[in-house]
Amino acid sequence: MSRPVLDPQYGMHVWPCAVVLAQYIWFHRRLVCGKRILEVGAGVSLPGIVAAKCGAQVILSDNAEFPQCLDNCQRSCQMNNLSGVRIIGLTWGHVSPCLLTLAPVDLILGSDVFFEPEDFEDIISTVHYLMEKNPHAQFWTTYQVRSANWSIEGLLYKWGMESTCVPLQSFEANKEQLAWSSLPGMYTIQMMVISKKIKD
Ligand SMILES: C[S@@+](CC[C@H](N)C(=O)[O-])C[C@H]1O[C@@H](n2cnc3c(N)ncnc32)[C@H](O)[C@@H]1O
Repeated sequence: MSRPVLDPQYGMHVWPCAVVLAQYIWFHRRLVCGKRILEVGAGVSLPGIVAAKCGAQVILSDNAEFPQCLDNCQRSCQMNNLSGVRIIGLTWGHVSPCLLTLAPVDLILGSDVFFEPEDFEDIISTVHYLMEKNPHAQFWTTYQVRSANWSIEGLLYKWGMESTCVPLQSFEANKEQLAWSSLPGMYTIQMMVISKKIKD
């Protein structure tokens, strides 16, 4: 299977995974309301924007080295009249002052962030750091299956986390069209809830 060349432009349009994660957030909007949420690799930030509209306290983040993606997060907030959303540069795997000083969050969102196997452990290590700040935090993530050989299970085990796969039909996302968007299309997308493994 061919893969497009990786580019910061990846954060400049909405990916199919974002629509599915946004639907999950909308489906659980009562749970999301009032929560402290960080979206990682946000790009256009559809899931974070929906969460903010549902009453969550949202921080959007993207690679600190991709200013155009961070500008894009800003534009999404402006277009949706969201003035209270903070935007930060947060590069996966980097222990930056921004990450160190971040207040604990309840939920971490990541839509289509597992697209480059080289980055998988960096993403998981960042999520692990956030879960050290709040062991009850969950990572809600949608993943587009691009290769049957890619898996994060081994890394989750290594970092003391576990995942639950959420069937798309359980939040009415098993459709080619969602909320007037045809983006989910025929792609194979998985929704996972990742949390810190409870020691037994
Ligand atoms: C496939 S896009 C997904 C964008 C958006 N979440 C969506 O689903 O529409 C991947 C996103 O991850 C961001 N990204 C790539 N490498 C990153 C890194 N090392 N640290 C943080 N963000 C990164 C890109 O800038 C881009 O916004």
